[in-house]
Amino acid sequence: MAITGSGSAVPATCLDNQGLTKLVDTSDEWITTRTGIRQRRLAKPSESLTELATAASRKALAAAGVQPQELDLILLATSTTDDLFGSACKIQAELGATKAVAFDLTAACSGFVFGLVTAAQYIRTGAYQNILLIGADILSRWVDWQDRSTCILFGDGAGSVVLQANQSDRLLGFELKSDGSQNNQLNLPYTSKSISLIQDVNIGQGNFHPITMNGKEVYRFAVQKVPEVIDKALFRANLSVDQIDWLILHQANQRILDAVAQRLNIPEYKVISNLANYGNTSAASIPLALDEAVQHRKIKSGDIIVASGFGAGLSWGAAIFQWGR
Ligand code: UT7
Repeated sequence: MAITGSGSAVPATCLDNQGLTKLVDTSDEWITTRTGIRQRRLAKPSESLTELATAASRKALAAAGVQPQELDLILLATSTTDDLFGSACKIQAELGATKAVAFDLTAACSGFVFGLVTAAQYIRTGAYQNILLIGADILSRWVDWQDRSTCILFGDGAGSVVLQANQSDRLLGFELKSDGSQNNQLNLPYTSKSISLIQDVNIGQGNFHPITMNGKEVYRFAVQKVPEVIDKALFRANLSVDQIDWLILHQANQRILDAVAQRLNIPEYKVISNLANYGNTSAASIPLALDEAVQHRKIKSGDIIVASGFGAGLSWGAAIFQWGR
């Protein structure tokens, strides 16, 4: 399999750190030094996840030279679907990808890496030839905008790639992990009230609540587990760390990017970072950073990339792939 094109889309509305100081007790200096984030894009009430994902996907399809009708599968990695039944089918209709089967995949900020590995299996088995993988999230819908420990981190966006059957397999190695025993560190929880329908028949109905996070623990987890999972993926790919051209980590915090790169002995110039402009866009962050680096002609055909996602679940994973046909 090969990854033959990328695209991305972000909302036009921009909220910088100065703007956040009007909302919570914080400062540009605190946010910049603790996270590296300077601004984030936020979806308007009228902007849907489907719209953002479709816009990113149109660009990825054009870059790959693939027609929507040629797609066999559309995989949408998201935690903020427009509809709990899923948004992938709506994207299929918007694109006119009439032949494609479409479904959502939820693995929080690891969603893109988990989706990449999932999509690759369909190609490896020979089941499908052309797959559209999207990472998209509108976390601004679920952030508590009064909670300064989380609201400064997140932004909205979508990134998309096209995977195609190819003579040589460009997914060189991967490793995926989950640890549900740490589930309570990062949540967007559903809670319900008991409602009595008739005597002795009770059901629960409620709503989702804003993101809660133990920032310090998630930070510790990322800095410890991400280098381990990358090492394992490198081992499976039979590659040494110096053979890597680019490191694209989930764009959560510049300090996490720096610490992981340092532990792996990857020089700064190989670390792709665009979180200053977008914040943490969850499942979108890796394809957004990837697409930007491709657009800026940093990433070129044949380059070897390590992508690693981590977050709620807890979940984490790494995939090593060679860019282009
Ligand atoms: O997608 C994956 C998801 N999440 C992550 O990757 C998040 C990982 N964690 C982090 O990035 C960091 O833990 C944060 C950026 C969330 C927090 O940074 P920190 O260096 O761990 O700060 P802290 O939570 O230890 O807070 C230090 C101080 C506290 O004050 P005291 O108790 O020392 O007086 C906080 O109340 O900073 C305070 N603080 C703030 N001050 C100004 C917390 N948030 C803010 C804020 N502005 N926005």
